[in-house]
Formats: sequence, C-alpha cells, structure tokens
Amino acid sequence: MREHIAQDHRYAHSVRVARFAERLAFANGESTFKARMAGMLHDLARLYSSKRLLEESQSRGLPVDAYARDNPIVLHAPLSAHLAREQFGVSDPAILSAISKHTLGAREMSALDCIVFLADSLEPGRDFPDRGRLAELAFQNLGRAMAQTIKSSFGFLREKGLEPAPQTLEAASTFDP
Ligand SMILES: [Fe+2]
Ligand SMILES: [Fe+2]
Repeated sequence: MREHIAQDHRYAHSVRVARFAERLAFANGESTFKARMAGMLHDLARLYSSKRLLEESQSRGLPVDAYARDNPIVLHAPLSAHLAREQFGVSDPAILSAISKHTLGAREMSALDCIVFLADSLEPGRDFPDRGRLAELAFQNLGRAMAQTIKSSFGFLREKGLEPAPQTLEAASTFDP
C-alpha cells in the first residue's frame, strides 16, 4: 500500500482515514474491519495525473460523465476501488462501494459508504473550522453528519467558483439536516 501510494503525506492521510473510519464503524455498529480496509485503500489512485485517471478509467470501461471530464480528479475514487480489487484482492462489494463513493457520494449510500466518506472529510489531519463539531456529530448520527458535511463542502466549492457534482447534490437531498 505504502509502495503503491509512494508519498508519505498521502499514506499518512490514508492511515488516519482508516483509523477514523474504524472508530466510526464501532460507534455505529458496522464492521470495523471493512471500514478500516476501505479507509486504507480509498486513495490508491489519488496521485495519478488527470491524463492517467481518464485513460485508466476508460480502459476499464468506467463511466466518465461530463463532470468527471471537467474534473478528472473525482475519478480517483472509482478507480481506487478497481485497484483495490485488482492489486489487493479485495472482493467485498461493500468495501469497494465505500471506496468508490468516498469523494462524490451517491443517491444511495450504505452506512459503510457514509462512514468512509465522513472519515475522509473529517479525519484529524483536515483543517477547517467545523471539522471538530462534524466529527463529533458523526459518532451520534451518520445521516445528519452527512447532510452537514456535504453542505459545508458546498460552501468551500462556491468560494473556489466550483459547482458540486450531480451525485453529491443527490446525496445531499437524501439526508435530513
Ligand atoms: Fe480521495
Ligand atoms: Fe482521501
């Protein structure tokens, strides 16, 4: 894993996401093993160039929608799920789903999907004003933490003049604030 990622900063983030996801899973009665595994492997393709993300997604027949064509970085999530299967032998669909949805979310998200999404956004190395409050909320109520974490991410996107992805808007609409 460390060799594949080949960058200390991203490796350390992955370890923090794995640990945070494991704690969230324990608090929410979900599989700590699956949460830790998904957390460790969620960013396998995060450092690939846009060109490589597009090429490797297309060669595997992964869907590349208009948003992903404009923002190829989002392809690292589904591509990381494929790499987890191909290179690390992960076959559990629940783990692969959580890896695949960790960046944009989706209309339908399992508790494990939410746990890995939230762990990625709220791990202790992240630095934004609401992080601590949202991290605490995630231990109490995954759905409310999802709604509020997504809403806060929309604020950051807007500041940068970026649009949220359709999948993230759909995810936002399914969780009560
Ligand atoms: Fe990621
Ligand atoms: Fe990440």
